[in-house]
Amino acid sequence: MIIVTGANGQLGRMVTERLLERVPAREIGVSVRDVDAAQDLGAKGVRVRMGDFTGPATLAHAFEGASKVLIVSTDSTGETAVRHHRTAVEAAAKAGAQRILYTSHMGSNPSSPFPPMPDHAATEEALRQSGVPFTSLRNGFYASSAVMLISAALETGVLAAPEDGPVAWTAHTDLADAAVLALTGETLTDAAPDGVTPALTGPEAIDMAGIADILTRLTGRPIRRVVVSDADYRARLLSAGLPEHAADMLVGLFAASRDGDFAPADPTLADLLGRPTVRMEDYLKSALAPAR
Ligand SMILES: NC(=O)c1ccc[n+]([C@@H]2O[C@H](COP(=O)([O-])OP(=O)(O)OC[C@H]3O[C@@H](n4cnc5c(N)ncnc54)[C@H](OP(=O)(O)O)[C@@H]3O)[C@@H](O)[C@H]2O)c1
Repeated sequence: MIIVTGANGQLGRMVTERLLERVPAREIGVSVRDVDAAQDLGAKGVRVRMGDFTGPATLAHAFEGASKVLIVSTDSTGETAVRHHRTAVEAAAKAGAQRILYTSHMGSNPSSPFPPMPDHAATEEALRQSGVPFTSLRNGFYASSAVMLISAALETGVLAAPEDGPVAWTAHTDLADAAVLALTGETLTDAAPDGVTPALTGPEAIDMAGIADILTRLTGRPIRRVVVSDADYRARLLSAGLPEHAADMLVGLFAASRDGDFAPADPTLADLLGRPTVRMEDYLKSALAPAR
């Protein structure tokens, strides 16, 4: 049985729905915190069990009979995230899984200034120590994250952010398809002989100036890229009501991007899927369609 965690979240749900096109429903189990929210999957024959990374006993039940487990990283950071992921890795090993898959991130690095990156690096270490064959999917930067970074610019016409570097923006749909391939075949073991995949990214790395150009084309209104200091950006975020940890996270994101941690684009994902990956301009065109 293939187990997918986080199946009520965006990526986990997409993976599960795409898995259903390739694998009989009775061979798929989801581990979710809210079983009611996954009723539609249950109706299709998927085994739905409650599993919370804060409760190892719930995971023992949710992962029962697992041959492979896809651990979708949780939306926490720091010690909490690492504790969640370690608990899930241990539970998958105890359940007898023959392979553990994990949604890591390009730029996973113990000393990155972007807080989720050391968390992913620590989880990859836990995977190495588990003794179970694993595939750490080094997912590219979500294209959807850019939509959050540009929302103010769409109002003001000014994309104000710290100095940055190019980012290989990547669509959830492409990453979900890659996870399905990794769960249903051995395709990714060739690309990741030591368990860690190359960066799985969209086709091009684009910096904030490039994003401003795309927005200008898509909206027909000039969107100007303005570089502000880290301190100024942080102050603006705080005055807009963001909590400190969220502001620090975004400042860290720009620091890591200007170090080149989210570039370059890598052909592995397109090669794996056997088709071109989603271009950022096309992604933004559909994401912004209702707003334009
Ligand atoms: N590659 C990137 O650029 C990028 C960007 C942002 C985030 N990420 C990572 O990718 C992950 C998946 O992305 P997404 O878009 O699917 O995010 P999402 O929709 O926010 O999903 C996060 C999932 O984590 C689950 N979760 C949270 N706490 C949990 C716990 N204690 N036990 C078990 N599950 C728990 C949530 O469960 P519920 O549905 O029950 O809430 C949810 O399904 C994120 O969580 C984050 O780690 C990657």
